[in-house]
Amino acid sequence: MSAASIRLPLWAQTVASLAGAPAAGPLLLGVDYYPDQTPEALWEEDARMMADFGFTNVRIAEFAWALMEPAEGKFDFAWLRRSVDILHKHNIAVILGTPSAAPPPWLTAKYPDIVEVNEKGERLHPGGRRFTCPTNQAYRRLSLIIASEMARTFTETQGVIGWQIDNEFTLGSSQRCYCNYCQAGFQTWLRSRYGTLDNLNQSWGTVFWSQTYTDFSQIPVPLPSGGDPNPGLALDYDRYQSYANVSFQQEQLDMLRKTCPRHFVTTNNVGLVDTINMRDLYEKLDFTAFDNYPGFFDMLMAQQGRMGSSAFVSSSIALGHDLARSVKGGKPFMIMEEQSGKAGQKTFSPQPEKGQARLWTYQAIAHGAMGVNYFRWDTATFGAEEYWHGILNHDRSKSPAFDEIKQGVRELKALGREVLYSNYVADAALVFDYDCSWALAIQPGHFRLAYLDQIVSWYGAISASRSGIDVIGPEIDLSAYKIVFAPVAYVMSEKQAARIRSFVQGGGMFVTNFRLGVKTETSQIVRTPLPGLLRDVMGVTVEDYIPVYSAKNGMKFSPALAGPDSECVLWTDILQPAGAEVLASYTMGAHAGQPAITMNSFGKGKAVYIGGDLNEASLARVLRTLSGMAGVKPPLEVPAGVEVTVRKAGNKQWIFVLNHGASSQSVNLPAAFVDLLTGEKLTGKIDIGAYGVRVLQA
Ligand code: GAL
Repeated sequence: MSAASIRLPLWAQTVASLAGAPAAGPLLLGVDYYPDQTPEALWEEDARMMADFGFTNVRIAEFAWALMEPAEGKFDFAWLRRSVDILHKHNIAVILGTPSAAPPPWLTAKYPDIVEVNEKGERLHPGGRRFTCPTNQAYRRLSLIIASEMARTFTETQGVIGWQIDNEFTLGSSQRCYCNYCQAGFQTWLRSRYGTLDNLNQSWGTVFWSQTYTDFSQIPVPLPSGGDPNPGLALDYDRYQSYANVSFQQEQLDMLRKTCPRHFVTTNNVGLVDTINMRDLYEKLDFTAFDNYPGFFDMLMAQQGRMGSSAFVSSSIALGHDLARSVKGGKPFMIMEEQSGKAGQKTFSPQPEKGQARLWTYQAIAHGAMGVNYFRWDTATFGAEEYWHGILNHDRSKSPAFDEIKQGVRELKALGREVLYSNYVADAALVFDYDCSWALAIQPGHFRLAYLDQIVSWYGAISASRSGIDVIGPEIDLSAYKIVFAPVAYVMSEKQAARIRSFVQGGGMFVTNFRLGVKTETSQIVRTPLPGLLRDVMGVTVEDYIPVYSAKNGMKFSPALAGPDSECVLWTDILQPAGAEVLASYTMGAHAGQPAITMNSFGKGKAVYIGGDLNEASLARVLRTLSGMAGVKPPLEVPAGVEVTVRKAGNKQWIFVLNHGASSQSVNLPAAFVDLLTGEKLTGKIDIGAYGVRVLQA
């Protein structure tokens, strides 16, 4: 082998080989490990046990700044090198985390103004983590220095294969910063976005409440000010905060590309966090890496008074996986942290049911993951996460999920890289637009109307059709899909409207609901009748838009959508069809009998407007019926609680069947299949055990 070929970037080699043979990517079936929190005497035993477990890799060091730079400019990587060497000796590869999410006390003592200011204008305090301002130059400089020292130290170290930059950007107690540095950064960002003050003043409508700016330095950040901020300013501030975090990451990424060209680079985040635009965050990274804690999320929902929201939780988890895959156009993604035991800080979730940890692993794979790392190896006996349980208990005995996770790792290795790096099959797409989420949070119209809730409910309803779903941004060409769903598409750009128009014209089905196209990209209300830019495509005019409080309304369906009447939960848009067929009507009050759902033929396709906020059962039935009309067919008919997805490579296809229920379910197979996990040949009626998984191949 020539020296040149040895130096070819590892990740570039992987990607090149993927183009022809998907079987060639690295195996990333590993665990998150904290040698910095573990007595050194145990490192060898840990590495040996991990190797015996079957793990291929660890992620380490992402919270070890204080150990790596104990005083400004004094670096100590000797301990980390010893740890990497031991792991490497046992054939465990290493993903290194850069430590910027938790700066040490010497740093915050010397540079106190790197600490974030929250939305009330209060400065946070050091002592936790993720308390930093993404704009602050001192924080950026010091973060880049420690990351660069790490990169230089480990670029040639055997066993190191990749990087995680920082940890879960924006996911702290306060997700946006409102300090003076951010104000100045915002002003600079606005200058390049709008060019002139005149343009900015016009775009926001600053004449309202006498807010006309005569110098960029006058522009505030949206802190409490006696009245609500200008909606255009508030939306741009959310965009700026997302940009500031992405550009913070970019500084470390540019350095890593230069210093460690053989390594892959990613970052981790949580799917449905909407304070950072995941598409921007991952755009220049090698692959998406999300963290997945279904049990913890369930506990969080209960804590927020949403007890018994298991459908919401399971939809959110599947949606997170589909988003992970879709943010990089369908590329296989990684789970950087997967729940392995009881999870939480002050309060925690129960131990996952027997089988669930393995099921969650397969769920990620079923939705397009190529690797899964478990959080975490051993359970900490100190620190804020003593109750975030890992694969070993506090006393280093095996946790309840130890054996099933080990089994899953063994099975995934046997399934092999061809399956792990295969493509996901989706005929349907759900539009998830950060601008809509932010603009709607600024002016929800109804205090309970939230974009993410709508997205999750729609996702849950669409998945009732058992079709593969991509979760796409507003900038994506739609022609690959049979049906596209876009709930609460509140902000609509001309380009997006044009893409929707040509999709429907070309034969696609576009399904949307209330608040469509209300706002321009600068958050002004359109001056044309609603739904604005898409009025001709939808074939309706919105006569009125009405939040629902004590004056209730309901919906009655035409035979095409036949089913029991629905209540209108949060909203009713009153529709005046101009050519569109009426598929449901309102049942109560002044608007009884008026159209509530319409379907318009436009070009070769159809455009459906759902004017009222449907209850869960009706939404599932309506969206499932529309999917059927659009020609979407499930790969298998399965009962409720059973999920089915398809992955494909060339002419090979794998069907994943996942039972999320606590009792066994049966499924009728339309043809003969082999279950690749057991080797059984299957036909006719088969059982999927409680929390069971089958991977079927014809
Ligand atoms: C993730 C985070 C980890 C750890 C884990 C359990 O959100 O990235 O550092 O905190 O949760 O809390």
